[in-house]
Amino acid sequence: MTTYRHAIIGCGRVAPNHADGFGQVPGWAVEVACDRDAAVEVFAKEHGIPRWTRDLADVLADETITSVSVAVDHAQHAAVVRSALNAGKHVLVEKPICLDVAEARELVALARARGLVLSVVAQHRYDPVVLAVREWFRAGLLGDLVSVSAALQAHRAPEYYRDSYWRGTWAGEGGSALINQGYHCLDAVRWICGDLTVQAAAATTHALAGVIETEETISGLLAAGDAPVTLSVTVASPVAWKTRIDVVGQRGSVAFDLDHPGRLLGCDGPDALVQAAQKHRADSLAEEPPGVAYYGVSHRRQIADFGRAVAGGTPMLTSADDAVGTLATVLSLYDKALPGR
Ligand SMILES: NC(=O)c1ccc[n+]([C@@H]2O[C@H](COP(=O)([O-])OP(=O)(O)OC[C@H]3O[C@@H](n4cnc5c(N)ncnc54)[C@H](O)[C@@H]3O)[C@@H](O)[C@H]2O)c1
Repeated sequence: MTTYRHAIIGCGRVAPNHADGFGQVPGWAVEVACDRDAAVEVFAKEHGIPRWTRDLADVLADETITSVSVAVDHAQHAAVVRSALNAGKHVLVEKPICLDVAEARELVALARARGLVLSVVAQHRYDPVVLAVREWFRAGLLGDLVSVSAALQAHRAPEYYRDSYWRGTWAGEGGSALINQGYHCLDAVRWICGDLTVQAAAATTHALAGVIETEETISGLLAAGDAPVTLSVTVASPVAWKTRIDVVGQRGSVAFDLDHPGRLLGCDGPDALVQAAQKHRADSLAEEPPGVAYYGVSHRRQIADFGRAVAGGTPMLTSADDAVGTLATVLSLYDKALPGR
């Protein structure tokens, strides 16, 4: 029996992961696909969604809809999330929560005041390898943190930006390589190591000069406590998508990626850490992703968590406050790298 009826607002590249995820939660159904583009009909039919609309107001006025996914361009996140919360819908919004920290805090407060679940997609926080490294770090198997390095090299062709009404612009995307692609590396490091402070950053745009007004490459020096953290992100590599994160502690050191499947690449340290790593490898599942491969399969896990939070009032593994922290760190990196942007 369907108890919870969900709508997807914005039916572009990432929307298949939402259709797939909500389709797997018992008692939930995706009832409406909403996109201002006429292609919404094709999307709805492809994903077995019974209704579609080009008008967001239809979704918000529909009292049978319990919750929405917001998967539109970054610039509209704040307004669409606010309208959905004011209409009494639980909200799962794609990252970033929005483009302004004060507005993000207002959205979190609004959800709390209305007793609604607001969750920001951070699917890699649910990747088994990320959860495992976080647990090992928290259990002391790595010892005190020495340093972290996180890197993403990706390729984005000019058409990726030219064919989009919002990418590659400060107004529409709020940045590019970092706030869009590199977001996950930064967010995973925050999830494992805690809050980060930004010390220095530099950004450039060469390969995509004349195509985007935002950054194609950015590197930052941050700190987790007194441990240095380096972050390096580019969308100008010939490599389609490749991440690597090294967490080095005084007792143990691990390397992993956020590619699909997220893998443990290396692990050195005490016997307990090596045994935990062996068990993690043995337990790892091969899962087919529903959409673009490097988005992975963990939308399913976060959506299941969202479903439990809506149905049972249980806190989610990751809170919207965490997402405000990641947004603040992203914006702080931009402030250091491109103060006059
Ligand atoms: N978690 C991930 O791994 C992941 C991956 C890709 C994208 N994303 C995020 O998902 C969001 C969307 O990205 P995308 O790549 O799917 O973008 P996209 O451009 O492919 O799709 C956005 C869609 O929103 C529609 N839209 C815009 N305004 C609308 C409105 N007011 N009402 C209804 N429809 C509207 C557009 O017509 C478009 O079809 C972004 O926040 C992005 O950062 C997350």
